[in-house]
Amino acid sequence: MTRLAAHFSCIVCLGTVLVIVCARFLFIQVDESVRVKKAVKELSTFTNSSCSKKTTLVFVKVHKAGGTTVYRLLMTFGLRHHLNFVIPQQTRKNRGHNLGWPRPLKQGQYLPRIPGEPFHILTNHVVYNREALHDVMPNHTVYMAILREPFSHLKSVMNFYDLPSLYKLPKKNTMKSFLSRPKFYEKRWRRHRKDQPFSYTNLMSFDMGIDPSSRLDTEYVRGHIKHLDAEFFLVLILEYLDESLVLLKRYMCWDISDIFYTTMNLMSYDQKIADASEKMRDQHRAWSVADYMLYEHFNRTLWRKIRQEGEDFWRELNTFRDMKTRVQEFCETSGRSKSARTTFEGSPWSKPFVVDFAFCRLLSKPLPLLRNGVRDAHLEKLHQHKIRVQ
Ligand SMILES: *[C@@H]1O[C@H](CO)[C@@H](O)[C@H](O)[C@H]1NC(C)=O
Ligand SMILES: *[C@@H]1O[C@H](CO)[C@@H](O)[C@H](O)[C@H]1NC(C)=O
Ligand SMILES: *[C@@H]1O[C@H](CO)[C@@H](O)[C@H](O)[C@H]1NC(C)=O
Repeated sequence: MTRLAAHFSCIVCLGTVLVIVCARFLFIQVDESVRVKKAVKELSTFTNSSCSKKTTLVFVKVHKAGGTTVYRLLMTFGLRHHLNFVIPQQTRKNRGHNLGWPRPLKQGQYLPRIPGEPFHILTNHVVYNREALHDVMPNHTVYMAILREPFSHLKSVMNFYDLPSLYKLPKKNTMKSFLSRPKFYEKRWRRHRKDQPFSYTNLMSFDMGIDPSSRLDTEYVRGHIKHLDAEFFLVLILEYLDESLVLLKRYMCWDISDIFYTTMNLMSYDQKIADASEKMRDQHRAWSVADYMLYEHFNRTLWRKIRQEGEDFWRELNTFRDMKTRVQEFCETSGRSKSARTTFEGSPWSKPFVVDFAFCRLLSKPLPLLRNGVRDAHLEKLHQHKIRVQ
């Protein structure tokens, strides 16, 4: 059996080598050789790849960066694949959203591990601290995060945390006033919150582990980003969420049905449409330079990765968007019936897959129920091992 497999892979190898050698002779032009490299890559995915689904990951759910969409997606993925989550221990102060945030994660802040099984997914709010996370997650864990264009992030933060009342900002020209004196308003807020080490207006860099007291030191920030670049497998960018997810699917060897999502956290609010002058943007950049550096670095990185995937990436992206729409349409119509069941055709990038009532329900489950589903599944497994949690 193994000999047969060895022979088979030998033939595949030989074939691949032949293709490369032939290609070397036949195609001289550079773009041709790129095409050949791609063909070889495609050949190797066809003749089975050592590509099996990666299921062990940390997702740093950066605040107000669109992380909730991915959080939902990961919980759905985890439930469908029976994976173990790191789940926050609920206390009076923590209603179960944070894993140690705003401080590094510590033992005892999450539900116990299932005996004999590893943790697979950590996706609740956490401050990125490699050592602390390494203590919890297996060695082969993949690290991911999400970032958002900083000015749009600021608008979202203003709205969500109601900074106008928290920071006592003027009612008129709120954003303009804040950006003309951010330090003043921050200080005023901080005076009463000595126990909160973060800043609402620099949340992205804070969540990514940048020391808030050094966040204006661009040398330090650049060094930190260099580490992040080496330590993160993929940083998603909200403005290019679909592109990011298709990359994720490719890197993780997932199926197209693993990256369907529904957006539910979209709100419209005043700050969202408030426009910014050039001056305001410059002021924001000066105040949140670490966030800008982070975003710009990882946006560039994302696009470099996309370019490396070749033309075929765009065809897969279109297929994904098209299928996502069709699945959503199905789920909103016939999918509401318990006996609903339909098979979506395969494509060069995905196997055929079945969408049924259960799949549709999971896809549209309200966030609190999804979160409870994950918690209950874990508690049930612990119960089977006679481990009690209060
Ligand atoms: C092909 O891939 C699947 C799953 O990714 C794996 O289980 C199987 O062993 C692979 N086959 C070969 C011949 O490598
Ligand atoms: C994980 O890696 C560390 C070294 O970094 C090693 O000591 C440890 O045994 C590894 N754990 C597993 C489960 O492989
Ligand atoms: C992200 O990078 C791309 C490619 O370089 C660029 O076109 C785009 O403007 C950047 N996006 C933002 C929001 O800065």
